[in-house]
Amino acid sequence: LELQMNLEEIEKGGYDHFMLKEIYEQPRAIHDTYRGRLLADEGYIRMSGIDHNIERFLNANRIIIVACGTSWHAGLVAEYIFEDLARIPVEVEYASEFRYRNPVITEKDILIAVSQSGETADTLAAIKMAKEKGAFVFGVCNVVGSSIARETHAGAYTHAGPEIGVASTKAFTTQITVLTMIALKLAKEKGEFSQSKYHEFLTELEGIPQKVEKALKSNDLVEKIAEVYKDSTNCLYLGRGYNFPVALEGALKLKEISYIHAEGYPAAEMKHGPIALIDEEMPVVVIATRKGHYEKVVSNIQEIKSRSGKIIAIVTEGDETVKDIADHVVEVPESSEALTPLLTTIPLQLLSYHIALMRGCNVDQPRNLAKSVTVE
Ligand code: AGP
Repeated sequence: LELQMNLEEIEKGGYDHFMLKEIYEQPRAIHDTYRGRLLADEGYIRMSGIDHNIERFLNANRIIIVACGTSWHAGLVAEYIFEDLARIPVEVEYASEFRYRNPVITEKDILIAVSQSGETADTLAAIKMAKEKGAFVFGVCNVVGSSIARETHAGAYTHAGPEIGVASTKAFTTQITVLTMIALKLAKEKGEFSQSKYHEFLTELEGIPQKVEKALKSNDLVEKIAEVYKDSTNCLYLGRGYNFPVALEGALKLKEISYIHAEGYPAAEMKHGPIALIDEEMPVVVIATRKGHYEKVVSNIQEIKSRSGKIIAIVTEGDETVKDIADHVVEVPESSEALTPLLTTIPLQLLSYHIALMRGCNVDQPRNLAKSVTVE
């Protein structure tokens, strides 16, 4: 038993928990994801699963992304990126809903299945159904040789390394990295980008690990914020555009490891219901980066403030406006809007980690949850 415990300590690499280790591994993991694929200096992206099937992707009617949980959130981020940059219609579906609702699928559709473990039963079943209907199926998995990796026609691994914590962290950011590379590549092939704009994007993506490193420096500040809100019973997460799925992911992280009830919403939807929940007891995490509907989000923050809600805002470095209104601000480095999810998600992971720890929860193995859901 002692030997086993020592082994686990070694595996944790000096961190108290796998989740924290995996949060801190993200700069490296994202780098490993694009290494050998993203050639910013030469101005291109090489991904064999896409390169060998490029005509299919360029001629596809639409892309359907299926996944569960955090992987579904990565799919939602990808929807914004694919539609915004590559101008390809995308639908994102919960695998469990998709497979049971007799969806319209044709041979001109491409199904992208996103899964860390590559073993999620509903995602696997959705793949089998799409294949039967003639769609081309592409997998984005982390676990090499997993069932989903074997069942798909082609794919791209995330190369995040083993993710042990039940709460998914580095799998999420590396899935977004892979999906961003695919979108950029297709955008270029479709002529949506000039070579110089493409080059600019590739260079920026290459610089993301350093920016994630910087975002991780918010850890001590986030720990202090966690101290203030650790006893809350509810928490709202708001974001718009690219950061709406990040709000959903932040809420999922908090509820699964700290057991605090948390909801993610598109910021503008607040006035269609959730605003009724706001009072002095309600912490609201708002993603308010400068690029991306900034003024609108600022006015959402004012609406919450005027109802005595407590604001924890994730802002772009140097922001002054939100600092004046919010109760707490956490800065992330500046980036183009499409790449902000890779940065804004970092303080949210840390927030859930610290709150869960302070509440005495089992961070790596939350109750009732399994790392991969292999049953329906
Ligand atoms: C995330 O923190 C969860 N534990 C869970 O939602 C997970 O993302 C989901 O079960 C999907 O798993 P997969 O990526 O291995 O398919």
